[in-house]
Amino acid sequence: MSNATDRLRVAVQKSGRLAEPSLALLRRAGLVFRSSRDHLFLYGENLPIDVLLVRDDDIPGLLVEGSCELGIVGRNVLTEQRYGNGAAPSPAELIALGFGACRLAIAVPQTSAIATLRDLDGLRIATSYPALLAGWLDAEDLRAEIVVLNGSVEIAPRLGKADAICDLVSSGATLAANQLREFATVFESEAVLAASPRKAPAAKALLIERLCARIGGAQSGDGVRLLMLQAPRTALADITRVLPARDPPSVMSLDGRPDDIAVQALCSVALDWQHLEELKRLGAHGLMVLNVERMLA
Ligand code: PRP
Ligand code: ZN
Repeated sequence: MSNATDRLRVAVQKSGRLAEPSLALLRRAGLVFRSSRDHLFLYGENLPIDVLLVRDDDIPGLLVEGSCELGIVGRNVLTEQRYGNGAAPSPAELIALGFGACRLAIAVPQTSAIATLRDLDGLRIATSYPALLAGWLDAEDLRAEIVVLNGSVEIAPRLGKADAICDLVSSGATLAANQLREFATVFESEAVLAASPRKAPAAKALLIERLCARIGGAQSGDGVRLLMLQAPRTALADITRVLPARDPPSVMSLDGRPDDIAVQALCSVALDWQHLEELKRLGAHGLMVLNVERMLA
């Protein structure tokens, strides 16, 4: 099945860790959606971009077969598919999205005597990520048996099905609840925007580029503040020195006040009271910090 319409389709996780932040990102990129009755399809009202809500594990497959041009998915799911797929075409990672951070990690029962990587030799490790785990075991020159499970990996040791597990860890709550301790990191992951390996027709390719630029703009606005202040011209050098600015600030003259200037600076760190008080000590007044919602270079 391939998506022959001229509308772009983005696959997004239906429920789970990435579901809500993925849709929030698309909305911040300016997309407005109308939901279908079954809530599995979001129709793009202001651009020909629709969202398909699916299981995250299905997203790489949908991209490979061309049912969707884009997907928002964990790098872990994407990479597992690529490793497991041999030489067949795989979705490409376009943008790392900076949310949904987690790691694929080996965990062992809290009471286990396992202390070094070598201790994993000959043990059984349960996982839903056999390809990623196999690659890591190979790189570490370890020989463990991989027990493939499709869910509830964290209870495998208690059921006697495995000696260790290799599963995603985000907050660590699941491990703690199952008396497991994290032992080694296999793979670091976050949500990414991925693209179908199929070549998109020109109009869709343009739309993809446009969406990527908007997502980039929404991301670069994340955590960016605009600092505005006025100051005596003589204080400019000192003020510039302490500004946590990304680029040199814009400096403007003020009508009828030749000794004063207005300064605007984009800052990528939060500006706390201490920052502002220091600037004030250096002569600044009329300080204002504004959140930047979006930016387009
Ligand atoms: C992962 C993993 C654990 C949980 C860990 O599932 O399988 O169940 O998250 O998170 P925690 O450390 O915060 O407790 P995921 O959200 O990827 O869902 P899925 O595997 O069912 O797709
Ligand atoms: Zn999943």
